[in-house]
Amino acid sequence: MTNKHRVAGRHFLQIPGPTPVPDRVLRAISYPTIDHRGPEFERLGRNVLAGIKSIFKTASPVIVYPASGTGAWEAALVNVLSPGDKVLMFETGHFAFLWRNMAQKLGLEVELIASDWRRGADPSAIETRLRSDKGQAIKAVCIVHNETSTGCVSPVAEMRKAIDAAKHPALLLVDTISSLASIDYRHDDWGVDVTIAGSQKGLMLPPGLSFTAVSEKALKAAEQGGLPHLYFDWREMLRPNAEGFFPYTPSTNLLYGLEEAIEMLHEEGLDNVFARHDRHAEATRRAVRAWGLEVWCAEPAHFSSSLTAVLMPEGHSADRLREAALAHFDISLGTGLTKLAGKVFRIGHLGDTNDLTILGALAGVEMALGLAEVPHRPGGVQAAMAYLREAAHDKAAAG
Ligand SMILES: Cc1ncc(COP(=O)(O)O)c(C=O)c1O
Repeated sequence: MTNKHRVAGRHFLQIPGPTPVPDRVLRAISYPTIDHRGPEFERLGRNVLAGIKSIFKTASPVIVYPASGTGAWEAALVNVLSPGDKVLMFETGHFAFLWRNMAQKLGLEVELIASDWRRGADPSAIETRLRSDKGQAIKAVCIVHNETSTGCVSPVAEMRKAIDAAKHPALLLVDTISSLASIDYRHDDWGVDVTIAGSQKGLMLPPGLSFTAVSEKALKAAEQGGLPHLYFDWREMLRPNAEGFFPYTPSTNLLYGLEEAIEMLHEEGLDNVFARHDRHAEATRRAVRAWGLEVWCAEPAHFSSSLTAVLMPEGHSADRLREAALAHFDISLGTGLTKLAGKVFRIGHLGDTNDLTILGALAGVEMALGLAEVPHRPGGVQAAMAYLREAAHDKAAAG
């Protein structure tokens, strides 16, 4: 039977995750599944559990769950917090809201510092609130590092400084689901207690794995408290992990993919990976401005290198633009979430992306702006090209 709808070439998956999976990773995932209690698995388990620490920049254990990032969110809350515990969160956007809702449903008392979704979390607001918490009722501060719904990044190192400046014992829990392996992140140096990530973004894997780096202080909290949990008990996981094994059937083939992805990230060098993401983000913002459109994130120090959310002109639907882009140019762009539905579209530039991929994506957006009759100036792709050409020139000159 012929498929009259086949589209030639690779689909442009320019949403802020899942991201395109490199062929090397796809090939690794296709290895034959092995006995997860045998010696061959022990090698794989030990290798990925050690390797993933280097991506989080931690000497602490990193727990791998066969779950999406949401599973690791829940695992973090149920391991370190007890019924009725108070948690401080910052309203950076849709994902901070979802984490807040989960915490409330689990029986935690959540205080959410309000914001306009156009910037990252404010360390001084956290410090002020913690200073006023005389009885130290707040047990954890939860921050989304890269708010995927808005394209704004929160300064995590400053969060730790704010907590310390307030002389407060609260744990620091950070969601790096759309920033790990895309934007510089240091679990140990920045004094984070729990860092959560997912497989389908900067790690260039399909969805299905989540990761949690856990500090000694967080492990101690898990020994002493916790909400009802069983499958997500960190301690049950860490015992067999010490020998390279898992307490239940692991996602063997995704772990093969993870091993390859870690190898690829180190072949490129993490600093180069971050610089590449910074470069593509800057090229994208230059294109947006050349079109005469507005980058949603209003604080330049908080611009995300994983994605750029673009504000539509009044009266024009972001979804109409996205539909035109998909129908005519086979490119998927990120939709606006909840409060931002229809108002913004998001260009993902994280994961396995190169200069020409991002230029192709921007060309798709520029042509779709015309087809969807969105008022704009041409020349966004030209502006991005000029920037990338200059960056290539500078790199060559630097040797
Ligand atoms: C910042 C952030 N947190 C949490 C989530 C939820 O993760 P998942 O969909 O993997 O469960 C996402 C998903 O995109 C995200 O971007």
